[in-house]
Amino acid sequence: MLEVTGLHVAYGGIQAVRSITFHVNEGEMVALIGANGAGKTSTLKAISRVIDAVGGDVHFCGEKISKIAPHHIIRKGIALVPEGRGVFPRLTVAENLAMGAFLRHDKAEIALDQEKIYGYFPRLKERAAQLAGTLSGGEQQMLAIGRALMSRPKMLLLDEPSMGLAPIMVQKIFEVIRIVAAEGMTTLLIEQNAKLALESSQRGYVMESGEITLTGESASLLNDPKVRAAYLGE
Ligand SMILES: Nc1ncnc2c1ncn2[C@@H]1O[C@H](COP(=O)(O)OP(=O)(O)O)[C@@H](O)[C@H]1O
Ligand SMILES: [Mg+2]
Repeated sequence: MLEVTGLHVAYGGIQAVRSITFHVNEGEMVALIGANGAGKTSTLKAISRVIDAVGGDVHFCGEKISKIAPHHIIRKGIALVPEGRGVFPRLTVAENLAMGAFLRHDKAEIALDQEKIYGYFPRLKERAAQLAGTLSGGEQQMLAIGRALMSRPKMLLLDEPSMGLAPIMVQKIFEVIRIVAAEGMTTLLIEQNAKLALESSQRGYVMESGEITLTGESASLLNDPKVRAAYLGE
């Protein structure tokens, strides 16, 4: 469904992503793990057209998307949950969710999806009228995921959903990520928390200094001595 070929990202002289190639099949959750600074966010930003790649191609559902306008990405069915969440702080929870559905006109279905998201995250329902800027970090992450789902995407791109959150929050959020994936959502999950990411996904890629150095089934990566030593602190 997503095919990334020779993707290269640079900031001036800094080579952040060095010609990486990977793919995500329809219905799969794939993890892209790596230390801070490995190039994970740059990869996601290039795929979602937030930044321009220097080289390489990205195909989505067979169509080349590496040159399209950034605002067309969501129309293609790709929803990004960015690092730092990116909720609209001065809008309420309900308004943020509505923004996620701004391209849709199927009012009844939108209302159903909103209830579905409140079902995933009851905290959001309790706080529907609260300004998003006053939510805790974990609640903002829930909202960012909910808003992305409101577009009914074909694919979800998640940038470090666990970052900076208390373990109990991480657990709640990942419970929902796993449910959504089990319901068939194609997902690319970027995480520094390798254990969590590999336990949640089918396949994984390990990124180091802008390159993919290892790939395989997540279960085998979890048992790989190199992964255990470098990312699981063993
Ligand atoms: N806007 C930027 N300008 C210059 N360098 C950047 C910028 N964003 C990221 N980098 C650099 O690119 C490399 C990869 O960063 P990033 O993609 O954020 O990694 P990760 O998400 O894996 O932590 C790092 O060396 C980082 O310092
Ligand atoms: Mg990052």
